[in-house]
Amino acid sequence: MNSWWQNAVIYEVYVRSFADGDGDGDGDLCGLYDRLGYLANLGVDAIWLTPFYPSPMVDGGYDVADYRNVDPRFGTLADFDAMLDRAHELGLRVIIDIVPNHTSASHPWFQEALRNPAARDRYLFRSGTGQDGVAPPNDWESVFGGSAWTRVPDGQWYLHLFDPLQPDLNWRHPDIVVEFESVLRFWLDRGVDGFRVDVAHGMVKADGLPDVGHARQIQLLGKNVLPYFDQDGVHEIYRTWRKILDSYPGERIAVAEAWASTPSRLARYVAADELHQAFNFDFLDAPWDADTLHTVIEDSLDAMALVDAPATWVLSNHDKSRHRTRLGNLRRARAATLLMLALPGAAYIYQGEELGLPEVLTLPDVVRQDPVFRRSRGAEKGRDGCRVPLPWIANAPAHGFSARGRSWLPQPSEWAALAADQQMLNPTSTLSLYTEALRLRRMFGGSLRWDLSETDVLAFRRDGLRCIVNLGSTAIRLFETPTLASEACTGGELPPDAAAWFLR
Ligand code: NOJ
Repeated sequence: MNSWWQNAVIYEVYVRSFADGDGDGDGDLCGLYDRLGYLANLGVDAIWLTPFYPSPMVDGGYDVADYRNVDPRFGTLADFDAMLDRAHELGLRVIIDIVPNHTSASHPWFQEALRNPAARDRYLFRSGTGQDGVAPPNDWESVFGGSAWTRVPDGQWYLHLFDPLQPDLNWRHPDIVVEFESVLRFWLDRGVDGFRVDVAHGMVKADGLPDVGHARQIQLLGKNVLPYFDQDGVHEIYRTWRKILDSYPGERIAVAEAWASTPSRLARYVAADELHQAFNFDFLDAPWDADTLHTVIEDSLDAMALVDAPATWVLSNHDKSRHRTRLGNLRRARAATLLMLALPGAAYIYQGEELGLPEVLTLPDVVRQDPVFRRSRGAEKGRDGCRVPLPWIANAPAHGFSARGRSWLPQPSEWAALAADQQMLNPTSTLSLYTEALRLRRMFGGSLRWDLSETDVLAFRRDGLRCIVNLGSTAIRLFETPTLASEACTGGELPPDAAAWFLR
């Protein structure tokens, strides 16, 4: 277990909202460059950058028009190289997002397919059903709502599991296979340490594109095997990708954003000859409940042990309500973080959670940009509330996010008190808690052994650590002073909604 990634803490940088270097209100690579020192001081091992490629930004950049370049709003390839070099100088590894399930509709391949029906094989074009083909080819639904098919003027339909401007690629076409191998090499040659694979469970669709037979398919995601997700054929792709990663020096890795129906199906993505890690969405989705968390932790560790892969843990990301809001309050968020960072395996932190940021629930509809909001006609508010730009400086325009005081989504005025510059000076701040936890985390290791505990309490130990989490409503008596706790432990007690670490 000596590889850098097996116990790594990886910080997700949502590039557009992290730091704006050129003052246009969108975060960018120069802004990130300037703040790399902050991330090194925080003590993370690696950063994961969400897509920064040329894109119409219909889905926050997960609609890629050119896989080998940087969108001008985020900078240039030279800015990317400078950022990567600086990160490496500071001892930070850099993982980038790759989006192989779909392209942007602006990608030259899709533009060609629209013009020329003979050049459509790289995507999934089909004739419609019903009289004159007016109905879609099958009953598949878009994850963003509505049908997964859109009709083009000459009458054919194409598949898009997300927005209509994100057409799905046909991974049975050799051009696609060759292109993505080349894209991986392009970035590996530049020196990236790995990839986060978007919709890693989606690239291969069942033969004949059979109906699901259910409406509201979104509710089945991650629970059932669907004809468009988690098909066995995807694993062949990753076996090839793994060989490419392994052909580079320095342990380059890939982490799967994979939705699978069971932990053991998820584990297949991280078999020894496939990817290195997969996000653990069961942990992220778990409520603040000791029994549920105990089960999720056990099941995750057991499933990953089957294939000898490290477990991963995540509480927040750019697609989900921030965990401070989801779990109910900051106390629980801080306790959940100490729980997560005590577990064996790798942990993913989403930018701003170290500041204790809440989900922004008050964004006016006119500023919302998530296609989920638009496609559901406002019934779903979407994911903009977790993507609001970070507050860096309390008393600066746009809280220091941007030199010219602009911010592509408005920040709540209360965020002044949460700004990084304020929290750095305060030893009880959430930023100080994260920094201290990341420092101490390097001092323990080994596997997890549960301790007997009361109801509503999680207690376990590892080599060098004992961790107690109080999820109940009464304080627990402690027999020693914690090395680190998410709340003050006055009177020798761990209060409700709090966690404590004891290092030895
Ligand atoms: C998962 C990404 O995290 C999300 O933001 C995106 O909308 C979908 N994949 C589609 O690419």
